[in-house]
Amino acid sequence: MSIKENINLEKLPVHIAIIMDGNGRWAKKKGEMRIFGHKNGVKAVRDCTEACAELGVKFLTLYAFSTENWNRPKFEINALMELLVSTINKETKTLNDNDIRLTAIGDLESLPKSCYRELMNAIDKTKNNKRMTLVLALSYSSRTEIVEAVKNIGEAVKEGKIDPKDITEQTIIDQIYTSDIPDPELLIRTSGEHRISNFLLWQMAYTELYFTETLWPDFGKEELYDAIIDYQNRERRFGMTSEQVKN
Ligand code: FPP
Repeated sequence: MSIKENINLEKLPVHIAIIMDGNGRWAKKKGEMRIFGHKNGVKAVRDCTEACAELGVKFLTLYAFSTENWNRPKFEINALMELLVSTINKETKTLNDNDIRLTAIGDLESLPKSCYRELMNAIDKTKNNKRMTLVLALSYSSRTEIVEAVKNIGEAVKEGKIDPKDITEQTIIDQIYTSDIPDPELLIRTSGEHRISNFLLWQMAYTELYFTETLWPDFGKEELYDAIIDYQNRERRFGMTSEQVKN
């Protein structure tokens, strides 16, 4: 019996975010180049996307490339971008067959032209799908996202469109990349690192964090189910007392 049977479908997280980490170490352990790890990470991407769609999770966000990742060796960046282009190209039909919408957050225009083009093409081709939304964080920095939001709000104040007294959390939510996406209830990070790494800082104010030693290429459906069950056994208090939550 799969532990999938133990998942309470009434209490599913609507949005799961994942920091896919450990591809390089996975490859090194096998005496291979880092890109071998990234290539094998694609299977885990596929498995998790499929598992989330089958369960009924509505949003899955994958941290695929951070702005800090631009500092990696050039050949690794190029290989990763090529892998992204080929994966997006290969998987668009599967996304459509499974009614999954693809979208992306980050400084997308900083991506190489071919990658940007392929991404926009897949986003356009899947835009009417309804079952689940797969969000790729690409050239993403949460601090940059917040800075951009602040700049936009500053401009609106300067133009007299917003009175600073009327600025609320919603004013900021309206300006961040995820304005039409609910905050993640569950964040998973693989590879034993216990960090957020500039990912969804605003959005994760009340997210439950799940860390596992498993390296990303070894992460599969069963471990995703484990993470969801772990999440379902937590008491989410949002600053209240346990008694208040229970009542
Ligand atoms: C982190 O491992 C992983 C990445 C920076 C890239 C993740 C990309 C993929 C899984 C490829 C395809 C993705 C999609 C969405 C099509 P790391 O390189 O930091 O590993 P390390 O910490 O062991 O060095």
